[in-house]
Amino acid sequence: MQQPGLFDSSPIPARNHSTSVMIAPTFESFRDAAREMLRLNRSPDQIWWVETDEAEPPGSASTAQARVSAQFVKIAQFVACHASPDRWTLLYRVLWRLTRGEPYLLALSGDPDVARMRRYEKMVRRDLHKMKAFVRFRQVSSVAGERFVAWFEPDHAIVKLAGDFFVRRFTNMRFSVLTPVGCVHWEGEGQLVFTQGLSAAVKLADSLDDLWKAYYENIFNPARVKVDAMRSEMPQKYWKNLPEAQLIPALLLAADARTDQMIQAAPQVSVLNCGSPPEGYQTVLQRSVQDDSRPALARIADATRACRACELWEPASQAVPGEGTPKARIMLVGEAPGDQEDLLGRPFVGPAGQLLDTLLAELNATREMLYLTNAVKHFKFRVTARRRLHQRPQAREVAACRNWLLQEIEVVNPQRIVCLGATAAAAVLGHPIRLRDVPPLGFELQGRQVMPTIHPAAVLRAADPSSKRAHLRADLQQALLGLI
Ligand code: URA
Repeated sequence: MQQPGLFDSSPIPARNHSTSVMIAPTFESFRDAAREMLRLNRSPDQIWWVETDEAEPPGSASTAQARVSAQFVKIAQFVACHASPDRWTLLYRVLWRLTRGEPYLLALSGDPDVARMRRYEKMVRRDLHKMKAFVRFRQVSSVAGERFVAWFEPDHAIVKLAGDFFVRRFTNMRFSVLTPVGCVHWEGEGQLVFTQGLSAAVKLADSLDDLWKAYYENIFNPARVKVDAMRSEMPQKYWKNLPEAQLIPALLLAADARTDQMIQAAPQVSVLNCGSPPEGYQTVLQRSVQDDSRPALARIADATRACRACELWEPASQAVPGEGTPKARIMLVGEAPGDQEDLLGRPFVGPAGQLLDTLLAELNATREMLYLTNAVKHFKFRVTARRRLHQRPQAREVAACRNWLLQEIEVVNPQRIVCLGATAAAAVLGHPIRLRDVPPLGFELQGRQVMPTIHPAAVLRAADPSSKRAHLRADLQQALLGLI
């Protein structure tokens, strides 16, 4: 029987043979839901995994048991922490195959699913190792006494995995490790507490005091304010020496309004590119685009993540939206994300991006001065025994994605658009061109200068890269002229 809450089909209505499975983004929540799905004999392509904070707590939904090897569980605990939104689909697919006639699957290291799972596991383990090695604590005074605080930015949601390690090592200190993906606090005497992550913007805080203040503001729960209790715990005369105490009067003033907001806030549901999309995903997409309380570029980014206008979303790890200065005067448009971009969810972070950064640095510019995006937002590839090989997107895939590019152009409103390669040029101009036919000053399009040039990957591929490199460098120099 379906469990209420866990298999809640709203707000994405499930179609006949497709189930939206709501899970919290934890291994335990996935494990419970996956067991139940196996019991119901739901194949991986029938399931649409949806992450939500509103899922049933682990262990409360299903008692169904599936026998899987300890080896799978061990790997899965790491994979569950990976940042890629397809991890649940991947885990369930492997689980399905293990329990449906392929018990020795994990021994096949060349199998694409196994290879991907191992790759995710390795990335998470490496991240965990970095966190253990590089976290540095500083002592701060807080309302509740002395505490050691550290800020760290892991690539994956590894804070829970790291918690036990820090407790073992620093048992006698009260500490907090703050990260964008979750925070862990040790109060001593067995009290290990996990709270939500902090916005990465907090890292811009000048000092740890600022950071702690920002954190305090973040966890401040207006519905729980007990002013008298606060004053008796910490008499007001001591507040002046505590970084976060300066925030309290303003927070108290705003508390009523924030309580109302918290009550009205809709539960957060993120739609993941997993499984086959149930009917109704357009509704989610539409809502994401129309919710104008969020910055336009963030809404476009969300919409690209939910986009199913072509098939490229399915094998890709995630969409790669544009990034950079929201009002940049120059926009750089590439073809499509590559392998590294697909894994990290950011444009131009692989070899082509590194060349781009080098050329920009030679011209006294940085990517932060620009807006970088791609004509197509999902990685297109074919799998060989060793790697995922980039494939050029077809015209229909470029056309399917063009809507998002045009919206980015409209919002950023750049004066110049540099198209890296013919695919980008066709996407921006709306018709194919030959790079060798581009006039010296490019094209004019709705008041903007469109400057097609060669792609950095063409430089990297060239037998003799020096002339191609000089070509790209000269075009970038011309594009930056007078605007940077
Ligand atoms: N190539 C592109 O066109 N875009 C990227 O983001 C990376 C490589």
